Amino acid sequence: KNIVILISGRGSNMEAVVRAAQAERWPARIAAVISNRADASGLAFAAEHGIPTAVVANKDYASRAEFDAALQTVIDGFQPDLVVLAGFMRILTEQFVAHYAGRMLNIHPSLLPLFPGLATHAQALAAGVAEHGATVHFVTAELDHGPMVAQAAVPVLPGDTVETLSARVLQQEHVIYPRAIRWFVEDRLTIAQGAVHVDHTK
Ligand code: GRF
Repeated sequence: KNIVILISGRGSNMEAVVRAAQAERWPARIAAVISNRADASGLAFAAEHGIPTAVVANKDYASRAEFDAALQTVIDGFQPDLVVLAGFMRILTEQFVAHYAGRMLNIHPSLLPLFPGLATHAQALAAGVAEHGATVHFVTAELDHGPMVAQAAVPVLPGDTVETLSARVLQQEHVIYPRAIRWFVEDRLTIAQGAVHVDHTK
């Protein structure tokens, strides 16, 4: 299976996915890593690992629709079975999301449905929750609301800051995102009535 990964910055989740795919010999290959920013530091890691990279810069397009159309053309050039959003910081049009329905995953740094949107760690600290975490979900038109594939929780500790809490969550992201993507490429995931079923018998 072909996986295309979209990033906007550091790309540590992309890195975790690439390493897991290699180490665990997934029946899949990372066909490309695409960024909406030329300065995304994750592009270097991808290039060093022999993965084709591309930049589709949103600032070069007058509208969201034109950007998404250009991005879709580049993605589809790699014939993806799965599109993985890994710290891809763009809101996507309904048309784009519909085109990849059932074959686009995102990771969001909160225990959804809590804290959709931005600054999730600050939101969690402000709310005073005892647990925080991350969620892997299929992407649907409503931001951070698609069917959930996996979650990981971490404790919120006394004295936590956005930095300490986000680092604790990120460690778990690097565990659950590769795992969820592996389930997808092994055909273990089905979506029915808005809920994901994971086949653990394979
Ligand atoms: C991660 O926390 C991810 O959940 C969020 O943005 C961050 C991206 O980090 N959507 P990285 O680029 O994968 O290192």
